[in-house]
Amino acid sequence: MLYIGVDLGTSAVKLLLMDGEGAVKHVVSREYPLEFPRPGWSQQAPEDWKNAVLEGIPQLLEGFDANEVRGIGAGGQMHGLVVLDENDCVLRPAILWNDGRTAKEVEYLNGTVGRDRLSRYTANIAFAGFTAPKLLWMRENEPELFGRIAKIMLPKDYINYVLTGVHCTDYSDASGMLLLDVEHKRWSKEMLELCGVTEEQMPKLFESYEAVGTLKPDVARRLGLPETVTVCAGAGDNAAAAVGTGAVGAGRCNISLGTSGTIFISSDRFGVDPNNALHAFAHADGGYHLMGCMLSAASCNKWWQEEILGTDDYQTEQAGIDLDRLGRNHVYFLPYLMGERSPINDTGARGCFIGMTMDTTRADMTQAVLEGVAFAIRDSFEVARSLGVEIPRSNVCGGGSRSRLWKTILANILGIPLDTAATEQGPGCGGAILAMVAAGRFPSVRAAADALVSVADTVEPDARLTALYEERYRQFREIYPACRALFPKLQ
Ligand code: XUL
Repeated sequence: MLYIGVDLGTSAVKLLLMDGEGAVKHVVSREYPLEFPRPGWSQQAPEDWKNAVLEGIPQLLEGFDANEVRGIGAGGQMHGLVVLDENDCVLRPAILWNDGRTAKEVEYLNGTVGRDRLSRYTANIAFAGFTAPKLLWMRENEPELFGRIAKIMLPKDYINYVLTGVHCTDYSDASGMLLLDVEHKRWSKEMLELCGVTEEQMPKLFESYEAVGTLKPDVARRLGLPETVTVCAGAGDNAAAAVGTGAVGAGRCNISLGTSGTIFISSDRFGVDPNNALHAFAHADGGYHLMGCMLSAASCNKWWQEEILGTDDYQTEQAGIDLDRLGRNHVYFLPYLMGERSPINDTGARGCFIGMTMDTTRADMTQAVLEGVAFAIRDSFEVARSLGVEIPRSNVCGGGSRSRLWKTILANILGIPLDTAATEQGPGCGGAILAMVAAGRFPSVRAAADALVSVADTVEPDARLTALYEERYRQFREIYPACRALFPKLQ
């Protein structure tokens, strides 16, 4: 038996083919463009995702027996607003999770409607990337298009819609819309009304591991797959990555160093951060999770390497960092290149380097970028700890986890061991596992993760380095408050 996992990311879709024992047989990746039409705006054409998936799957299956495929499951970039008209045409480019255009709407939601009410309705407050503020933005700025919305969905739901014709979503991804009553797993009537939309426009809700349908005959023909292939509801990419790294059940943690940086803590019970700095969302295993999300993580390093240093040889660049310099760097980097979500919720925050002197080297600055991202993850880690959540260790996944140096820095900044799973294709791997549950290969997500996920490598913190980084973290924490008032003046 074979299963297809879809990781619908921000720069590319990664498709993987997994057998029933969890072995990854083939991986195919197809990139698509990302538009930044104005500073802080970020959008993408859903048709590009569709084409990438429909062209990528036949390529993924080359050399394999397509009749062996039993299921497809997607983990997708969260929060993106996809809107279709009554003829199923995409009305505008999807407004993505890292888009900051909705500062005014967020202020209205958190200020006028009020954080307490939002938290009561949804367990969360408004952040610029969430879906509800984007609907308000469309209503205000594109009223004609807004009036033509027949279907609202999230990025991976659009792929499921193309594959099956079923307008659906799952609880983990729906949690990030600020339209779901997360605790009771139903649409919030109050929030739908506030945003001027109806339940008929919303997708049908499923658990991530439930089957939503099978392939439409024309799609099956085009992909060369049997029509009987089960498509599961799938999950937001962070919940899917958590499944793929075994962070399911109570009290497990997964950190993703992808375009975004997230810290994801699974729970079998519903719980809310009283300050709403961490998101309180449903998990793909049927439970819940808390999550902190920073908007630019591995993307800071990519920007620094490729745009500024002009090299894509990350390894050579990092090899220039003297290990004796860990915990001793006097250069700091604030990683807020797209503004920031957790925990500061400031669309106006910006990136900066601070602390350079004439003897500062290129390697110090590269190190500062890796450290700045790790310090910002620590900010959300501290919020979780302040809620009494114990995080004795964590998985780490995403592109950044390929760097042992970065994992060493992060393990010492957090002071915990970091595990890397044997298959590091986080969300795609989770998608394939969810598809296995939907197709009946396993009775539950937990049973599947227990059977399929194993740890390949652990980076232990070192007491001396952890102590050095503790001091550095204290200094890092002072930089943003000192710059905050300045950022709006710089724009
Ligand atoms: C999570 C978030 C990001 C995206 C990235 O809340 O916005 O992690 O899901 O794809």
